[in-house]
Amino acid sequence: MELYEAIKGRRSIRRFKSDPVPKEVLERILEMSMWAPSGMNLQNWHFVVVAGERKDALVVLARKGYDYIEPVLKEVFAEKQPVIEATKKFFSKLGGAPVLVFAYYEPTKERPETSIQTVAAAIQNLLLAAHSEGLGSCWMTGPVHMADQINEVLGIRDKTLVAVIPGHRRDLTIEDAAPCVDKGRTWRGLTVTFPETVPTHSAKQGFYFDQQARLRRHDYHGEVIGPYAHASHYCDDHLKFGKAVFPTRRKVVPRIGGGRTLPFPTLVWIRVHEAALQSS
Ligand SMILES: Cc1cc2nc3c(=O)[nH]c(=O)nc-3n(C[C@H](O)[C@H](O)[C@H](O)COP(=O)(O)O)c2cc1C
Repeated sequence: MELYEAIKGRRSIRRFKSDPVPKEVLERILEMSMWAPSGMNLQNWHFVVVAGERKDALVVLARKGYDYIEPVLKEVFAEKQPVIEATKKFFSKLGGAPVLVFAYYEPTKERPETSIQTVAAAIQNLLLAAHSEGLGSCWMTGPVHMADQINEVLGIRDKTLVAVIPGHRRDLTIEDAAPCVDKGRTWRGLTVTFPETVPTHSAKQGFYFDQQARLRRHDYHGEVIGPYAHASHYCDDHLKFGKAVFPTRRKVVPRIGGGRTLPFPTLVWIRVHEAALQSS
């Protein structure tokens, strides 16, 4: 992966796949982290990689870090309640990450700021290397509030915890869903889970198709609007343009419990008159 592309493409990922990260991949990533610059070239970083049962115990401790950051979150995101809820959810299981990396420094005779910056440089390398390996990660200082308890579990005495980095990516998944029965019509369903690398899409969406495999209804959640903003996008009047079939009448309406939709207000109304496919 080209460097500029990696720098711009890396994002904090907060939902992960549970399958383990291969040891050799972790070793490559950690090696890259240690190519970072360091104060006086002391390279006084120290990484602890934890998976399995021990990791589960540490997730329970890291979760408690949320209580310390909640008051600040509530101030910073006073107008953005979904951010607070999403952060709380993330801390509850650290996104289901199969592996955690604890980043420490060994104190030196220099000021702690130098060591913190040394470890920070290594962490940024680690995140970029993870990204170029196709993995996701999130730099977290929230769990550092629980450093004493974490250090006890890890048996660390003479080092300072700087950050905790959960890792692995949840890829896009497509699963069969229960059919959707809508005004007497029954459509086959698929549930698609989008990873955070697709920030324009809500995490879980339902796609429903008729017997000709034409998309008829698309259920999603306007997460940025609020927890109540569930909607269904109806797709009708499919027409063929060249080799592709497009729904030309599109209508988005609110969706309530049990998958039922309300006839109004119409949230989006689109009529497509012409479409053309262009290869890039
Ligand atoms: C020093 C530092 C501490 C952070 N701590 C947390 C944290 O405790 N929890 C969290 O969810 N994200 C944490 N982040 C991630 C930031 O929220 C994230 O980098 C920022 O929102 C920008 O998003 P991006 O990484 O996708 O570009 C931290 C990032 C840094 C650099």
